[in-house]
Amino acid sequence: MYKNIDLNHAYRAFTGGPMICIFTKSKDGVPNGMSAAWNCPFDTDELILVLDKGHTTSENIRNGSKIVVAVPNSNQIDEILKLGSIHGRDCSVNKFVEQKVDTEESELFKLPVIKGALAYFECELNDKALFEDKGICLVKVKNCYVQENMWDEVSNSFKKGCLNTLHHVSEAVFCTGGELVSND
Ligand SMILES: Cc1cc2nc3c(=O)[nH]c(=O)nc-3n(C[C@H](O)[C@H](O)[C@H](O)COP(=O)(O)O)c2cc1C
Repeated sequence: MYKNIDLNHAYRAFTGGPMICIFTKSKDGVPNGMSAAWNCPFDTDELILVLDKGHTTSENIRNGSKIVVAVPNSNQIDEILKLGSIHGRDCSVNKFVEQKVDTEESELFKLPVIKGALAYFECELNDKALFEDKGICLVKVKNCYVQENMWDEVSNSFKKGCLNTLHHVSEAVFCTGGELVSND
C-alpha cells in the first residue's frame, strides 16, 4: 500500500544529495557561505546545485565568483543552520564573523571554507544561461579535496564509517548513516 502525499512534501520523500555548504566571494571581496540540500552529481566532475536567485551566493556567482562546495560532517548541523539562516548581504562584516562559523582557506582558490568538512570541491560555473534562466547552477569541479585519513586509496572512496554525511529531512532535521553496505 502506498499513500498519496501533498506535493509540497514530495521532495522530502525523494531527498537530495548530502547537505552541502557553498562558498563564494562578492565582487568587492566579501566572503560568504550558504547551505543547500538540493544538489546532485551531473558527471564525474560536474555538480548540479539548485539555488534561489535571490541569495547573496547567487549574486556572487552571477558576478563571476569562483565556487567552493563543501560536504559537512554529521556533527556540523549547527554550522549548516547558521550559514543557511541569514543572507550574506545583511551581515555587517561577513556571515562567518556574524554567525561565528570557523573557516579555513581552500587550497587553490583561497576561498574560506567550513573547517572540518569531509571533502570540498573548488568549482567554476559551467552554464551561465542555465543559471540565469532556472537557478540551476551547473558547476565544473576543478579540484577535489578529501580528508586524507578518511580516504581509501584502494577503492578510491571513503573508508568504512567515514562517510558521515547529513541528508535533509525537514526544517532542522537531518538523517545520517555513514555505514557502507553491499550484498557481498
Ligand atoms: C537545511 C537547509 C537546506 C537548504 N537548502 C537550500 C537549497 O538547496 N537551495 C537554496 O537556494 N537554499 C537553500 N537553503 C537556504 C539558504 O541556505 C539560505 O537562504 C541562506 O541564508 C542563503 O544565504 P546567502 O543569501 O548568503 O547566499 C537551505 C537552508 C537550510 C538551513
